[in-house]
Amino acid sequence: MGSCATISAMSTPLLPLQDRFGRQVNYLRLSVTDRCDFRCVYCMAEDMRFLPKREILGLEQLYDISAAFVQLGVKKIRLTGGEPLVRNNVLWLVERLGQLDGLEKLVMTSNGAQLDKYAAPLRKAGLSGINISLDSLRPERFRALTRTGDLAKVLRGIDAAQQAGFERIKLNAVIMNGRNDDEILDLVDFVRDQRLDISFIEEMPLGQISEHDRALTFCSSDSIRERIHQRYPLTASTETSGGPSRYYRMADSDSRIGFISPHSHNFCHLCNRVRLTVEGRLLLCLGNEHSLNLKPIVDQYPGDTERLRAAIIEAMDLKPERHHFSLDDEPQIVRFMNTTGG
Ligand code: 5AD
Ligand code: SF4
Repeated sequence: MGSCATISAMSTPLLPLQDRFGRQVNYLRLSVTDRCDFRCVYCMAEDMRFLPKREILGLEQLYDISAAFVQLGVKKIRLTGGEPLVRNNVLWLVERLGQLDGLEKLVMTSNGAQLDKYAAPLRKAGLSGINISLDSLRPERFRALTRTGDLAKVLRGIDAAQQAGFERIKLNAVIMNGRNDDEILDLVDFVRDQRLDISFIEEMPLGQISEHDRALTFCSSDSIRERIHQRYPLTASTETSGGPSRYYRMADSDSRIGFISPHSHNFCHLCNRVRLTVEGRLLLCLGNEHSLNLKPIVDQYPGDTERLRAAIIEAMDLKPERHHFSLDDEPQIVRFMNTTGG
């Protein structure tokens, strides 16, 4: 598909994707479904309405858009959701994307609930890495935070991912004061034991939620780091996974401890990514509504990647300089993370 021959025959100039602020876009986060088998309190309302089938992109369309991005120099694609593994036939998409020339990393963020079944086939299909969300190691609390989740099943999923040969599996934990901040050190011990990495995430104001007041539960990365540092001295590392995580190392373990701090450490100047929602909206920034709808193009001109490439290049000019998340105001962003592609 994205072979050199195809590229040199293109009439669209082969410009790398660059925005008005000189940032190079080489990373696409692709939401393959807005649905999820969990209802995490910070991510969804209890009774979510999901998109009707006719409003979402087909798997072929998701593939065509991804192929256009790869032809334009995108090197990394992350499949997200909702929960990517609830999308029918997602393995087909992984397999096809895994064959795109020029794509260096094909990774996924999953809640882990179905990984016991899917980890091995995903690895075989060409997935190169996986992040798994885990906010608590206590079954009842895990159930309360996810509203539906079964911790034992997720732990089996993590195990299956390791057995399948995924390396440097990373956990993502959203820490909220009074809800799970007493588990920070337990989570660190868990990743040390299991030889995993972890990123601690500050909750982002996406969508209106009713379960807690985000201003009260806000737990800054600095305070989390301080608590860990008292037990396991942390040394800043220069490593990067090409994302907003800032990594630290402990002297006596291979595990990396990362912090994603949308509030306390703005990382927008390093932003190298765009997101595609499952409705076909190309979002230029997680914290802004600037977007371009690609669905009409793939609906009307199936397989026309040249037209897609032209639209994508044009959309780069819409990428805003930064997000402005604030804990005091109403969320400026009404869409939830599940429609955004966390
Ligand atoms: N703020 C921060 N992280 C969130 N996630 C989902 N919603 C939010 C939010 N409002 C996280 C999930 C998952 C990752 C993809 O995004 O926990 O780990
Ligand atoms: Fe599902 Fe992930 Fe949202 Fe939880 S955070 S409800 S697992 S999409």
